[in-house]
Amino acid sequence: MNTSRDSYSAAASAWQRGPAKVYDQLAEVLVDTCPGMLPGCRVLDLGAGTGAVSRAASARGATVVAADAAWGMLTADRHHRPPCVVADVGGLPFIGEVFDAVLASFVFNHVAHPVDGLAEAVRVTRPGGWVLASSFDADWTHPVKDVVDAVAARYGYAEPGWYTDLKTATSIAFGTTGAIADTLRKAGLVDVEVAERTVEIELRGAAELVAWRLGMAHMAPFVATLSPATQGRLTRDATTAVGPEPTPLRPVVLLARGRRPR
Ligand SMILES: C[S@@+](CC[C@H](N)C(=O)[O-])C[C@H]1O[C@@H](n2cnc3c(N)ncnc32)[C@H](O)[C@@H]1O
Repeated sequence: MNTSRDSYSAAASAWQRGPAKVYDQLAEVLVDTCPGMLPGCRVLDLGAGTGAVSRAASARGATVVAADAAWGMLTADRHHRPPCVVADVGGLPFIGEVFDAVLASFVFNHVAHPVDGLAEAVRVTRPGGWVLASSFDADWTHPVKDVVDAVAARYGYAEPGWYTDLKTATSIAFGTTGAIADTLRKAGLVDVEVAERTVEIELRGAAELVAWRLGMAHMAPFVATLSPATQGRLTRDATTAVGPEPTPLRPVVLLARGRRPR
């Protein structure tokens, strides 16, 4: 898989079994910070993935449309999803000023030119409406990442180039409060705020931590190439390597918001 888009498309089912448990909880946190999240408000879930923000915003009564570059992520659980479009953040297929809020949960840490994508988000937001984006703090990590990578490497896993770029450049450029605030202002937003928050993620032990890592888009397409028996061995080896008392998952998350000028 040479591109993030293809990898995400291929990862959708594994994502639902693992990372979705983490991202659903993170989406709740982002949606809770959205001013004016009222029944009937029109929300764009930008970089929707398998629909974490769509579910959280719909549960609060919003009318949601989802967009993502990876069609596979949008087709996951499609009968229970809001209307969606396959689209890159850099070119949204909507006329201007149609949404009360655009919510982008862990998307702009994947994007090489976040100012351009955020400017598109601003364009489709009504004057006075809000654009929200979340990202991981660039300094935050968790020991399970290296442990699972090392076990997977024994089975032939090699990190895809797009993920190396994401780890070493893209996510860092959108991974500090200062850089994110600057990016939102350059995109045309006002009243910009970026808050840092440590989120306690509820996961049940090593098995769910391993499912989180093996279901991520940089790894799931590789795991899918293995036979079911080998996938089982890899999962058992990784769970044993993580150990019975893993470090709790408490990501440091940056929650950003800005308003389109009236
Ligand atoms: C880490 S996942 C987050 C998914 C979802 N927002 C969530 O919180 O569960 C990143 C998502 O952004 C999408 N994405 C990455 N780059 C994109 C781009 N340039 N335009 C649109 N979507 C993009 C990926 O396909 C993926 O679904």
